[in-house]
Amino acid sequence: MNERILALFEQNPNAYVSGEEISRSLNVSRTAIWKHIAALREAGYTFEAAPRKGYRLLAKPDKWNVTKLLAGLQTKVLGKKLHIYGEVDSTQTIAHALVASGAPEGTLVLAESQTSGRGRMGRKWHSPRGKGIWMSLVLTPQIPVFFMPQLTLLSAVALCRSIQKVVKVNIGIKWPNDLLIDGKKVSGILLESSGEDERLKYVIAGIGISANLKVEDYPEELRSLATSLAIASGTVIPRETLVQAFLLEFEELYALYLDKGFAPIRLLWEALSVTLHRPIRTHTHSGVVEGIAESLDDSGALTVVTSAGEKVKIYSGDIELK
Ligand code: BTN
Repeated sequence: MNERILALFEQNPNAYVSGEEISRSLNVSRTAIWKHIAALREAGYTFEAAPRKGYRLLAKPDKWNVTKLLAGLQTKVLGKKLHIYGEVDSTQTIAHALVASGAPEGTLVLAESQTSGRGRMGRKWHSPRGKGIWMSLVLTPQIPVFFMPQLTLLSAVALCRSIQKVVKVNIGIKWPNDLLIDGKKVSGILLESSGEDERLKYVIAGIGISANLKVEDYPEELRSLATSLAIASGTVIPRETLVQAFLLEFEELYALYLDKGFAPIRLLWEALSVTLHRPIRTHTHSGVVEGIAESLDDSGALTVVTSAGEKVKIYSGDIELK
């Protein structure tokens, strides 16, 4: 019955539907309607009730629209096997488990929320319900383990380019793979892998996109560091469209990479970088390195030139833009 009531509102977008009309169309009592509206409210729908006019549907709960997502998916492999969840601890954990039970390359795990979303370097990833794109993609590239950083950079390029195609924002990549708008982080990538004898068995690319978070959705301590695509663009982000665009972009770049190697990806990364030619600071095993980020090398490492003219390669970790 809830479905039929909702269908009536869908047929009359933004209009009031009177209790009498619902009762007549669906042959139910006014009391029953009131109970169903209450249940729908409980499920996250927002109705306005106006005397003598009836009800108006103002907002629906934000849920993944699987039909829309699959209908507009133009990829050959990526995302064709789709696992969508409500709340999970981490989509990464689910993806690892799916691989263990035979999930093929391209399998995508999406969740509405994560209770233990994980970020790089043991950090937590804030993943509130229905507000973002929290997803993990299974990949099985035939490449040596030490090429993983290249795949990390490729993921950032794919993500940055797909966001640029869907949302009007000025976005760039901070080495290695943070996406920034006005210096604030809007998206992060975490690659986890399993390998044997220096060959990768599989990689799980975990992508977090803060799509529709409002300022109040962030804990106080993140507000000066993070932003969302919605805050930056002033629009609501169609999450399904962005997932489709990302998977297509990733599939194309991944094919290019497996065919031609890292060189074309490196060029694309450099064009989107907000790191190169800027002063940076980073902590390495041998202490703090400060200097100008000069270039990206073939392995994906960042070359930094210090004030003493020394060239230092940064292979992992985080950098601070000064
Ligand atoms: C980072 O910038 O530190 C990486 C953040 C990666 C977050 C995503 S959200 C989907 C996937 N599941 C996780 O637990 N983490 C990644």
